[in-house]
Amino acid sequence: MDSKNEILRALRECRGSVSGQELSEQLGISRTAVWKHIRALQEEGYAIEAASKKGYRLVGVPDTIAAREVGSRLNTKRMGKTIYYFETIDSTNQYAKRIAEGEGSPGRGKGGMRPANDGMADAFSAGDIAQALARDGTLIIADEQTAGKGRSGRHWVTPPKEAVAFSLILRPELAPERISMVTLVMGLAVADAFRSLYGIDAGIKWPNDIVAKGKKLCGILTEMSAEIGEVHYIVIGVGINANLTAFPEEIRFIATSLKLETGKDINRAELIAKVMENFERLYEVFEKSGSLKELKDAYQAVCMNVDRPVRVLDPKGAYTGTARGIDDEGNLIVETGEGACRKVSSGEVSVRGIYGYV
Ligand code: BTN
Repeated sequence: MDSKNEILRALRECRGSVSGQELSEQLGISRTAVWKHIRALQEEGYAIEAASKKGYRLVGVPDTIAAREVGSRLNTKRMGKTIYYFETIDSTNQYAKRIAEGEGSPGRGKGGMRPANDGMADAFSAGDIAQALARDGTLIIADEQTAGKGRSGRHWVTPPKEAVAFSLILRPELAPERISMVTLVMGLAVADAFRSLYGIDAGIKWPNDIVAKGKKLCGILTEMSAEIGEVHYIVIGVGINANLTAFPEEIRFIATSLKLETGKDINRAELIAKVMENFERLYEVFEKSGSLKELKDAYQAVCMNVDRPVRVLDPKGAYTGTARGIDDEGNLIVETGEGACRKVSSGEVSVRGIYGYV
């Protein structure tokens, strides 16, 4: 972590004041360097008071999800160690794919920042660039998306400053057919964050819509680059309706936001950091076996479809049944009558509630 981030973290965690001397000892830098970093943070919009005997105190933070604000809140070993932030971009998933492919100038964003620790030298192959720019755990965050993508080619709305949109690049050593489970792991990480931070009774509509009172709060779109037997990289895109208070006509009755559910303004940086921490913990469990064996119970405890009637939109022919939960591979088990069960794979089909969206 860079020194400015460490100072910010120390100021946030001390819950009072911290002296220049303490900061200089903690970080192993001079007091002058501490002072320069404090000045730079103030210029970025952080309100830091300096009192002669007590030291520095953080009294206000900008409403931002820029790399510094998210990065200085992260307690992770792997996820989000490299962060790219954009005020506006076409789609964080698209950007993630461009850098993962090693495109020379992935561009198409405004207010973007290359991270200080991106390890880039001057001349390389596309593969080297991809590895340096888009290492495992790289996080791309945007305040606004102009061409946000939803599942099944739908558009995803991301108005500036109100929504949360981010994509995580992973380079897992797993067979391609295991990847759809990662989306369920992310769904669980997000639902846990909503529950622990805001006390919302958040559930998951299989495989990965996070809902409250039957309305959607968050969607997840996972994309993969692979060949037979080998995954090059995956991009997990997460869109959260954080502070939105109005929705386009066509989704008004099936969408809600964290602000509408809690009546409070949502600190988006805190939320992203929490999701990253949850995901890192759960993903580690998933990676060990490459299955949801250890996470199945936790998933089922919040899965809204369990024991409810569902309509399975299978391209080979839609059918109805009662959802009974998931198996170790994340497939939805649907009882279709007289004890017969069918496995529904999340990568292939979608499922609708019969009496509404869930
Ligand atoms: C869905 O249809 O439910 C999935 C929505 C996924 C939206 C997110 S927002 C961040 C990332 N970038 C995109 O363009 N899409 C995903």
